[in-house]
Parts: sequence; C-alpha cells; structure tokens
Amino acid sequence: MKHLSKLPNIETTIFTVMSGLANKHQAINLSQGFPNFKSDQKLIDLVSKAMNSGFNQYALMPGNMELREAISKKFDLLYGNSYHPETEITITAGATQAIYDVITAFIRAEDEVIIFKPAYDCYEPSVLINGGKPVSIQLESPNYQVNWEEMKQKITSKTKMIIVNTPHNPSGTILSKTDMLQLQEITKNTNIIVLSDEVYEHMVFDDEKHQSACLFPDLKSRSFIVASFGKTFHNTGWKTGYCCAPKELMEEFRKIHQFNVFSVNHPVQKGLADYMQDPNTYLELSGFFQEKRDLFLSLIKDSKFKFKPSQGTYFQVLDYSGITQENDVDFAKRLTIENGLASIPLSVFNENKLDNKVLRFCFAKTDETLKKAADILNKI
Ligand SMILES: Cc1ncc(COP(=O)(O)O)c(C=O)c1O
Repeated sequence: MKHLSKLPNIETTIFTVMSGLANKHQAINLSQGFPNFKSDQKLIDLVSKAMNSGFNQYALMPGNMELREAISKKFDLLYGNSYHPETEITITAGATQAIYDVITAFIRAEDEVIIFKPAYDCYEPSVLINGGKPVSIQLESPNYQVNWEEMKQKITSKTKMIIVNTPHNPSGTILSKTDMLQLQEITKNTNIIVLSDEVYEHMVFDDEKHQSACLFPDLKSRSFIVASFGKTFHNTGWKTGYCCAPKELMEEFRKIHQFNVFSVNHPVQKGLADYMQDPNTYLELSGFFQEKRDLFLSLIKDSKFKFKPSQGTYFQVLDYSGITQENDVDFAKRLTIENGLASIPLSVFNENKLDNKVLRFCFAKTDETLKKAADILNKI
C-alpha cells in the first residue's frame, strides 16, 4: 500500500536523535529538557494516595475540579488576575496537547500563523496538519529580540494566530513588559488569537518578572496560555499540563479536547491539586534553577564558549564560534560521540536551518552532572 504523507517534510525530532545518540555513547545528556533529579517525594506520595483512595476512573472532561481551582488561585496569587475554574481552565496531556488543540480549534486551510524562530518544534507541524500556513520571523542571535515593526509587516488579512513563548525555549530569553504591550497594541481590534506558551513561567531569573499574557487585559481577551506541570514539578514523564482562556475561546478548545483525549490521568491530577495547596511548591523554583544556572556558568566561565546568561527556562545557549566553524549539527554530534556530552544544535529550531554556531544545554541536572559536563566543555 502507498500512502501520501500528511507531513512529508517532518523528520524525527532532534530530541529523539540526540537522546538516542547520548544513550548509545553513554554521554552526559544535556540535550532534552528534563531534570535528572527526582520530583518531590511529597508529590509522589500524594499521587499514590490518590490512586489508593479511588481516583482511578475518568476525570471530568475539562479536568479534576480541585486542580482547576488550585490553578485559578495560583493566577490570582501571581498575577492578581484569574481564570474561572468551571469555564476557563482545562487540564491537558502536557502543554503539547494543549498547543495542538488550540491550533486545531482555530486554524483552517490557508490561515496564517506567525511563529518566531527559533521555535519549539511542535508548533509548525500542528499548523501544517490543519492546513494552515506558518509564517516565520527569525530572531537574531545572541539577543533574540522581537522586532515588533517587522511582525506588524507580516500581518495580513489571513493572519489568524500569533504564537509567543516566554521564557523562551531554546534561547533562554524572556519577553519584557514593553514587548507584551507592543503585542497587545498590534493585535488590538483584530480577530487574531494569541497562543502564549508559558511552560517556563516559574523559571525567571535575576529578579525579573514573568510577563504573562494574562496581565494585559486586551491581550488576555484573545489569548490561550499553555502551561506544563512536567516542567514545573520535575516530572515531564507524567505529561500533564493545562490551558487557560476566556470562556468563549475555551468552549471551542474543549470541542477538540473532548475528542482528542477526553480527560487526563486522574490520580496525577488529584495529587497535583493537593500538592499545589502550598504555593511554595512553585514560588521557590526560580531561585532553585538560578542556582543551577549560576553554578554551570561559573564552572565554564574560562572555557572557549561565549554566552549571555539565560534569563529564564532551564536552558543555556553557548556560542562555539571561537572554537570551530563546523556546522552545529555536526559539532553537536561530535561532542556527543567523541567527548561524551549531548546538547541540541540551535539550527533545528531556526528558519531554513540557519546556523549561528550555537548549542543549547539543559541545566536541570544534579550539581554532579553539571560539574562533569563543565569539565568536558573546559577541555574543548
Ligand atoms: C516551549 C515548550 N512548550 C511546550 C513544551 C511541551 O511541554 P509538555 O511536556 O508539557 O508537553 C515544551 C517541552 O519541552 C517546551 O519547551
């Protein structure tokens, strides 16, 4: 049988490729974005407790109510601005499913979706599978700042969605209040939906504040915010996240969500709801990851790699142009095979695989792992 691929140009993701290579060569794996330390035992116990006390059947379609209430309270606490747990919050199978459902709910054939590059890799395929047209805007290394004038030029009568991601994977930059105000101004009085990927909201460093789309009233009225418990609570394998939006937008989202996954792992949701009763569980994260970033950077400060400290996320990008002019995919592979350290080449997230000689390293690792990785980088 012959089948025409619906995504003919999509290859196996670089994360699978680099993690596979890291396993094969027993390299230290700073490529994929996941911690190599355990989730809090208290959370694991709460999930076990939820299983033992009967939370083992389908959750409500939009998610366990206690968890939605806990999320609503969190928005109040952090941003003085909430979403209604009944109608404006839905629990999803990770941020990935939320992103897919937002795009599927609104993107029709020929609709244009503006995506800033480098971009997390699930946005574009989700647009394409729905017949939409990704419109890319390449951000320049090393600052990766958005030129809002340029974005304005890219908006046409077909623009249906703009995807933003702050803190930003892979560059580790954040959008400022001025950036968000610009985005709000440009989209005012349009029908454009904003998909704001905020999975790293609790990892913002150096006393900066996370500028959530919900802080800007007009922006909030057209935005979906997606978030990930896996990123926040060190358990990416549980694939649990959520999505918030005003009621009318959320109604459309749930039409897709209910036939895509219907509902998400119930005991995990109940455990998370109980765990989140203590806000310190998420309030302390920025400090925790800032220490990791600082340790990693202090260890490699005399290496030949150049860097600007990450402002958010648990990623640090390193510029190796002072070492070799080799293409970044080849260099990342060589670093894994010959030196035993896996990273992600940034070109895979860029438009037309633009190669700025930059690699991304995940510092959500034990101090011991970071020291070993730094030893390798210092010898290059
Ligand atoms: C920017 C960004 N968005 C979304 C996701 C997906 O999150 P989840 O694992 O909850 O699906 C990731 C994971 O790496 C990410 O970096």
